[in-house]
Amino acid sequence: MSAEFYDLLQAEDDRRRAERRFAHAARRAVTGVVEVGAGSGIVTQVLLAASAVPVHAVEPSPAMRSLLLSRLAAVRADRRARVTVHPHPLQEAGLEQVADLVVASNVIATLDPATRRELWKHVCASLVPGGLLLFDPPPTALPADIQHGTTLGPVRVGPDHYYAEIRHTPERGIIRAEFAYRVEREGRVLRREHETFDLWPADPALITEELHQAGLHPVRAPGPDLIAARRTG
Ligand SMILES: C[S@@+](CC[C@H](N)C(=O)[O-])C[C@H]1O[C@@H](n2cnc3c(N)ncnc32)[C@H](O)[C@@H]1O
Repeated sequence: MSAEFYDLLQAEDDRRRAERRFAHAARRAVTGVVEVGAGSGIVTQVLLAASAVPVHAVEPSPAMRSLLLSRLAAVRADRRARVTVHPHPLQEAGLEQVADLVVASNVIATLDPATRRELWKHVCASLVPGGLLLFDPPPTALPADIQHGTTLGPVRVGPDHYYAEIRHTPERGIIRAEFAYRVEREGRVLRREHETFDLWPADPALITEELHQAGLHPVRAPGPDLIAARRTG
């Protein structure tokens, strides 16, 4: 449901963040890049622009994939020729030793612990030995109370202004991230939409342990908001 608002409200900030987080590592990739949960393709575009190797964009959701493919339609043909879109979860994509960089942006927190543990194994399998995984970590703990977070927008489209209010609510071990979208014209609300995502907090020590068990050795991350790990063998 949020797919229709995504580019309007988030694309530019997300692009800048992706460049800061991932462009340097993508420039150094010599085998390939796997992007887990490519979503609308903002990060994919950054990875394609920065690298010169094949990029595997893994995205199981049809709604997000339609944004991804629309974005790829506007990408230079030589860059588009390097990207393969995998319409499955990573666990079913069958990617074996195709990359020396795996990127998971905004994905790990959205996975329940069992899926997350399973995912690490497939991340490891997709990397060549010594290959690097970069991801933004899940929240480390549940917030004590409801957090009224960011407002996105207003972004103007003709006579209308688009907004989103985001709030995080702790609930039985998970965090409910609620996006309340609003379209206004001349101060009057035309439309409201609402979407909720579940986020699973995880203690950093647990993440480290899970990575080790999957054959991934945590290493120094290139930024304060990232975790990095290398395939050991
Ligand atoms: C919050 S979105 C993030 C999208 C994008 N990476 C970004 O930073 O904007 C998480 C994405 O991960 C995808 N996803 C969830 N589980 C996945 C899995 N097991 N393998 C690959 N992608 C997955 C979802 O379909 C969704 O598009």
